Formats: sequence, structure tokens, C-alpha cells
Amino acid sequence: MDINPQLHPLEVNPKTGEPFLRLLSHKNIIITPPRLSDAPLYVSILNDERVIHWLSSPPYPYLLEHGEWWVNQAKPQSDKLLAELEEARNDPTLKIVDACPVGSIREVKEDGTDIFLGNIDITLAQQPWELEGTGRLSQPTPRRDPNDPDIWTLGDYLAPSHHGQGIMSDAFKTLLHQWGIPRMGVRRMVITTLEGNKGSVRVIEKAGFTFRKTIENAMQVRGTMRGVHVLDWSA
Ligand SMILES: CC(C)(COP(=O)(O)OP(=O)(O)OC[C@H]1O[C@@H](n2cnc3c(N)ncnc32)[C@H](O)[C@@H]1OP(=O)(O)O)[C@@H](O)C(=O)NCCC(=O)NCCS
Repeated sequence: MDINPQLHPLEVNPKTGEPFLRLLSHKNIIITPPRLSDAPLYVSILNDERVIHWLSSPPYPYLLEHGEWWVNQAKPQSDKLLAELEEARNDPTLKIVDACPVGSIREVKEDGTDIFLGNIDITLAQQPWELEGTGRLSQPTPRRDPNDPDIWTLGDYLAPSHHGQGIMSDAFKTLLHQWGIPRMGVRRMVITTLEGNKGSVRVIEKAGFTFRKTIENAMQVRGTMRGVHVLDWSA
């Protein structure tokens, strides 16, 4: 198969044609585009107290229809990015794009099958405390002004069966350094975690971020006011 050089550093599964990013240290873990068949797999993970308690946006209980809604918007976004990269196939310089076409974390078994483990996504920050000090009230699209870098943020979760094995630390470092910085032009990130989320704070600190502050009662999450920790990074 003739691999599109614009996918670099993504690899392509020779059997399925699906692009993927392999984690730098956990070689049996890959990040692929979302698949329409994933929707039911989100349901058990996102209804688990060890996961949902630390996420602000998913509904609870998380139903199959929520998973279907999510994958039905995520898959076309990934397809659109891949089409954009295909269009640039013959361009000698690597195209800078607004997102990553892969975000679904999967463990590859010895027989070649894989299991869905979670999700990771770098997007433009939108929370007021993430944009604090930038003079921006929102970021509809990246500006890529070298003197005034866009603020990017992270969204992620992992199946509890795989917590504490260093997978998300590896996934975040891999995604940021292999795709975020070179292919999206990420130069600044501000990440919010819900107050008390020690695992997430460690993942972010281990990627080189500095703890900026804790804000009490910062946001309402499914009817309860929660505090947040804010962490910062600049290239
Ligand atoms: C946060 C989360 C993504 C971490 O993923 P993970 O793969 O388990 O994290 P890692 O194994 O890479 O651990 C990173 C560090 O955090 C520490 N850690 C992990 N879970 C922890 C916990 N519950 N309490 C304290 N420390 C924890 C690990 O010991 C490790 O630190 P170390 O290397 O200094 O020992 C995962 O726990 C998760 O999905 N949580 C629910 C959803 C969530 O919080 N998402 C983030 C939203 S901002």
C-alpha cells in the first residue's frame, strides 16, 4: 500500500488501512480514529464512578444513545481531517492541521485484535480560566500567531482496568510530541482537572506542565459545584 506521507508520523494498518499512532513506551497500545462500532464500549467505561466522577462534560447515566451521538460527530471529523491530508498528499511540506485524526486508545492483543481503552484529544481551550491573561474570550479557530500562541487543552479518560500502568502518561506525551507540536502547531496548553484528581494532575505534571492554581467552586458538574486545578505549559 502506498502510504500518504502527510500522515507522518502515523502508521497504517496494512489489513484495514486504518491509520494509527503507536505509544512511545507501551508498544502494544495504539491510538486510532473512532469506529462506529465503539459506541457501546463507551457506555461501561463512562458509567464507572472511577471515570465519570472526574469528567465534567459527559451525561450520567451514560446511555448508548450518548455514545452513538459522540461517535457520529467524532468519526466524520476524523474522516474530514484524513481527507484534508489525502488532498495534500503531494505537498512536500507537512500540512499543519487543526486536530488529530486519531484519539481512540486501544490495546493490541497478540492475535492482532484490539480492545478499546479510552480516549484522548487535544482541542482549543474554552474555559475562562484557561484563557485568562490572553485577552481572548473564546477561540473559535486557531490563529497560529507566533507572538500570541493559541491555548490548547486536553480531554482524556481510560478504562479503570488499565489505570495506574503509565498508559495515559505515555499517550499524552506521545500525542503532544508526535502530533500536537509538529502537526497542529501546539505551543501553549492550559489544562483543567476537577479538584482532587491526583492521577490526572500527575499525568499532566509528568508531561512537563506547571501547577498554576486551584479555583474553588469553579464549575457546575451534573448539578454540583466543583473546584478545578489549572496547569500550564509552553513550548
Ligand atoms: C487520570 C487518568 C487518565 C490517568 O491515567 P493512568 O494511565 O491511570 O495514569 P498513569 O498510570 O500514567 O499515572 C500517572 C501518574 O499518576 C499517578 N496516579 C494515577 N492514578 C492515581 C490516583 N488515583 N491517585 C494518585 N495518583 C495516581 C501514578 O502513580 C503516576 O504517577 P507516578 O508516575 O509519579 O507514580 C485515569 O485515571 C482516568 O481515566 N481517570 C478518569 C478520567 C479522568 O480523570 N480524566 C482526566 C480528566 S482531566
